[in-house]
Amino acid sequence: MNNGRFARESCKIIRSSEGATTIDINDVFRYLERDLCAVERALASNIKSAAPLIPVVGKHITMSGGKRIRPALLLLCSDACGYRGPRRIVMSVVTEYIHTATLLHDDVVDMGTVRRGKPSANMVFGNSVSILVGDFLFARASQLMIDDGDINVHKIYAKAVVSVTEGEVLQLTKTRDGGITEKQYFDVICRKTASLIAAASETGAALAGADQRIRKALSGYGRCVGMAFQLVDDILDYAGTEKKLGKRPFQDLREGKITLPLLHALQNVSAVERKRAQKVLAEKERGERDIAFLAGLVDRNGGKEYTASRADDFIRRGKRYLLELPASEARDALAVLSDYMVSRTS
Ligand code: IPE
Ligand code: IPE
Ligand code: MG
Ligand code: MG
Repeated sequence: MNNGRFARESCKIIRSSEGATTIDINDVFRYLERDLCAVERALASNIKSAAPLIPVVGKHITMSGGKRIRPALLLLCSDACGYRGPRRIVMSVVTEYIHTATLLHDDVVDMGTVRRGKPSANMVFGNSVSILVGDFLFARASQLMIDDGDINVHKIYAKAVVSVTEGEVLQLTKTRDGGITEKQYFDVICRKTASLIAAASETGAALAGADQRIRKALSGYGRCVGMAFQLVDDILDYAGTEKKLGKRPFQDLREGKITLPLLHALQNVSAVERKRAQKVLAEKERGERDIAFLAGLVDRNGGKEYTASRADDFIRRGKRYLLELPASEARDALAVLSDYMVSRTS
């Protein structure tokens, strides 16, 4: 998506005479192409290390695709606040390294086998290597921030990394717990996913030297679209194919991870079905029959539809924050990117 050729000058984000935007997600990535190419180059050059295995593993995951949603948000938020300088590229790399580190660690914790359409790093190189290279990426992100020298930005990411870690740990403690509440689920996804997306968005404003009101608005925007993004990820786990997703479907059920589609279904099933579901969930492992039973409950009880409606609510809320920004092409692009985050199929 973001690997074609780009000439920013030739990019057209069109405003019709009525003021309505007529752009789609491809226009957005075309608009960002030159910057995203610079991010790709910087992702590769900053992964060099005295330990030769680090760039091998780092490249295995970093250069194997990835939608680059977080860099796109950061670039656009910064642009919408009036800053287009080189620090945007550095901070995009910081964000993507942190994101990639969390994926390396997440696949160890979740025993994931496929990531971005390839065998995951833990499968190819083992758990120890994945954990250590994840640590390297966190540390390199930290070095890049220190070299950049803006304590405000460093603070944003320090808070986000704490939050992501807390989210992952909270989620772990709720694994196979059929009693998880919606409130607990939303708290987990806010921390593990929305916090880093909020950090990327707020950083765009911080780089531009925007005031507190704008920083808060973009942080709020990122948090809302980040929530929607994870909700859709949780729907796709029930709806996608490995080819499309680049990861295995029904993986959450295999892991005993109870996400909103199932949580909602469990609130609507009969007492008998709920009891059977809780028993299946409490088992250490679930076979294909158990997975089919749980997926059937989700299908018959509107689990995906309910989750999609909650994701839409978050996108609506997120877009309202954008009204705090002056009108611009980048602001229009942010609105389009928000819609893409809930309409995506991978
Ligand atoms: C995957 O994030 C983890 C979640 C927060 C759902 P992405 O879907 O952004 O992963 P890549 O970077 O595109 O592979
Ligand atoms: C993604 O969570 C990891 C983080 C957000 C830190 P998930 O476990 O839900 O994501 P996938 O499905 O493995 O990509
Ligand atoms: Mg996972
Ligand atoms: Mg998932």
